[in-house]
Amino acid sequence: MNLKIAVLAGDGIGPEISEQGVNVLTAVAEKFGHNVSYKSALCGAAAIDAVGDPFPEETFLTCQEADAVLFSAVGDPKFDNNPSATVRPEQGLLAMRKKLGLFANIRPVQTFDCLIHKSPLKDELVRGADFICIRELTGGMYFGEKHEGDDMAYDTNCYTRPEVERILKVGYEYALRRRRHLTVVDKANVLASSRLWRKVAQEMAPLYPDVTTDFMYVDNASMRMIQEPRFFDVMVTENTFGDILTDEGSCISGSMGLLPSASTGTGTPVFEPIHGSWPQAKGLNIANPLAQILSVAMLLEYFNLSTEGALVREAVDASLQANVRTPEIQVADGARYGTKEVGEWIVDYIRKH
Ligand code: IPM
Ligand code: MN
Repeated sequence: MNLKIAVLAGDGIGPEISEQGVNVLTAVAEKFGHNVSYKSALCGAAAIDAVGDPFPEETFLTCQEADAVLFSAVGDPKFDNNPSATVRPEQGLLAMRKKLGLFANIRPVQTFDCLIHKSPLKDELVRGADFICIRELTGGMYFGEKHEGDDMAYDTNCYTRPEVERILKVGYEYALRRRRHLTVVDKANVLASSRLWRKVAQEMAPLYPDVTTDFMYVDNASMRMIQEPRFFDVMVTENTFGDILTDEGSCISGSMGLLPSASTGTGTPVFEPIHGSWPQAKGLNIANPLAQILSVAMLLEYFNLSTEGALVREAVDASLQANVRTPEIQVADGARYGTKEVGEWIVDYIRKH
């Protein structure tokens, strides 16, 4: 297969983990005889510094021309601490999602048996937890009408029926391929937008008789995720709720550095870790590259290269088993491995298996 990949490394630890993701993809391509080409493009704070725009037109074109985007992270404290900054790195990520029509963000929450002890939750609750959060990504408060005055500000949580229908459809399609259980998370007891979600879901549920559909308020869902994470199979929710719940979900597995995601829709799909740019760790070679490497697995699977994806997952599992781990998940007396060393070990595993 020929694959053109746009590489958007971004800020903070982005470039370090990006390099490992690219190396892993290259190793897979060499092994299986695929032809992968890369084109790097600026985004986030790096792009603001270079050209004054967090998602420049040239980057957009590079993404449009590519088959997939391998994205890393954006964000820089110099913008976080400046509420009057008129342009922010995060706007680049939002512009990318909107311009590429990436309305579905797929965030799997998985656990790794050998890392269960790293989870803040009890072993017996976490073991075997395996669900997918499908987050609507181009609507809701993130993109609704806004006003930002000195004495009054608002964001509007607007959803249209087609927006709700298409994301629920993605949810049902995932549910059909999994344990056939879809949980629609909303706040229909308070929010009009949520009531539209619920109405549309109730209309669609009979079209998927093999799937059990249930509804849960977001406050309750956030509790249930901690009390009984195994309850969930596929969860579908709006943009803001999905943002919050997936950070919570990442704790279940013990490290944010482990969870990949895929964003799909009408344009070029994007594969990225769910974590941010961790600016404090920039250049220290301590960031976990596994979320990025698992994003490569999701990328391969998206193109139906399931053997290739499975090998990447196997290599990640093997690295964890072998205690080849970055500091935040390393065992007490374990050797020190950095971002680069973990990536190299995985590349080596792929070449040999
Ligand atoms: C995420 C991030 C982004 C979001 C930020 C960086 C804009 O937190 O991908 O979850 O809120 O969507
Ligand atoms: Mn987030």
